[in-house]
Amino acid sequence: MPERPRSIYWRLKGELRVQVIGLGTVGLPTAIHASKFFDVVGYDKNPLVVKRASERIPVAHSIVEADVYIVAVSTGLTPDGKPDMASIFDVCERISSVRADALVSIESTVSVGTCRAAAEKFGLNRLVHCPHRYWSGDPVKYGVVQTRVLGALNEESLRGAVRFYSRLGVPLHIVSSLEVAEISKLAENAHRFVEIAFAESLAMVCGEYGIPFQEVREACNTLRRPEYNYQVNILEARDGIGGECLPKDIRYLLSLLHSPLLRGAIDADILYKAWLRGRKSGLP
Ligand SMILES: NC(=O)c1ccc[n+]([C@@H]2O[C@H](COP(=O)([O-])OP(=O)(O)OC[C@H]3O[C@@H](n4cnc5c(N)ncnc54)[C@H](O)[C@@H]3O)[C@@H](O)[C@H]2O)c1
Repeated sequence: MPERPRSIYWRLKGELRVQVIGLGTVGLPTAIHASKFFDVVGYDKNPLVVKRASERIPVAHSIVEADVYIVAVSTGLTPDGKPDMASIFDVCERISSVRADALVSIESTVSVGTCRAAAEKFGLNRLVHCPHRYWSGDPVKYGVVQTRVLGALNEESLRGAVRFYSRLGVPLHIVSSLEVAEISKLAENAHRFVEIAFAESLAMVCGEYGIPFQEVREACNTLRRPEYNYQVNILEARDGIGGECLPKDIRYLLSLLHSPLLRGAIDADILYKAWLRGRKSGLP
């Protein structure tokens, strides 16, 4: 077994050294949980985030040599609304210059094709995509260790990732490719977006015709036919779709094809927010 390089960051309590890159909403609870099982150090480019995280876990000033890298950096949109994967490529390039044969697990939400492109571009031959499913109510139980989808670059990556995530107690749903894992994350958030946009449109119709939306909702939601897998569940229409993930992820999916349905859901949400503002300001 090759000797481990000495580093001030590792306490060498476990058999693997893990670096979590991106210590925000998703990365920090992941790093804290992983540190119960392995030697973990974090890294983030934002000094304020580093300061907060270093109260909970050791944090390095750069990407350091590790056996497993968990990538939980932010992903966004370009000014013209296209997927912006610069942070993923930046981190993957830097990992490859430190340790190209480590296992890299990309947990950030990415556009389809990003993981394979990053692996090929930077010669990372052990790479998986295990998109995170965060819930602020309990970021560990319903985030880190809830059932997670996992797609791998190759068999070796898959075996390594299964061993690693099993030790963390993360139940895995293994899919056949990186792309299946990528699109499944986008689909679950886009699906939620479309469902909420439908509720918003219905709330607007009800509002315009003086019909109580809540009563309509409750009436519709009595329809349950489990034996046919046919359920109606009209969601609440609140203040419009907020947060970063749903609006971003539906646009990642929309970037793949011209979809009047997805475009319409985005427009419906914009219209609903304007309608709510009009009602609050007393405009007709
Ligand atoms: N927050 C959620 O509810 C949620 C749920 C599921 C998936 N995700 C996805 O997980 C990813 C992270 O989301 P988050 O909510 O934790 O974001 P966040 O903004 O809270 O944290 C991301 C961190 O990444 C750091 N970062 C960005 N680029 C970096 C780089 N090149 N090098 C080092 N650090 C870098 C930022 O400084 C930031 O602290 C995103 O892709 C998001 O879509 C988020």
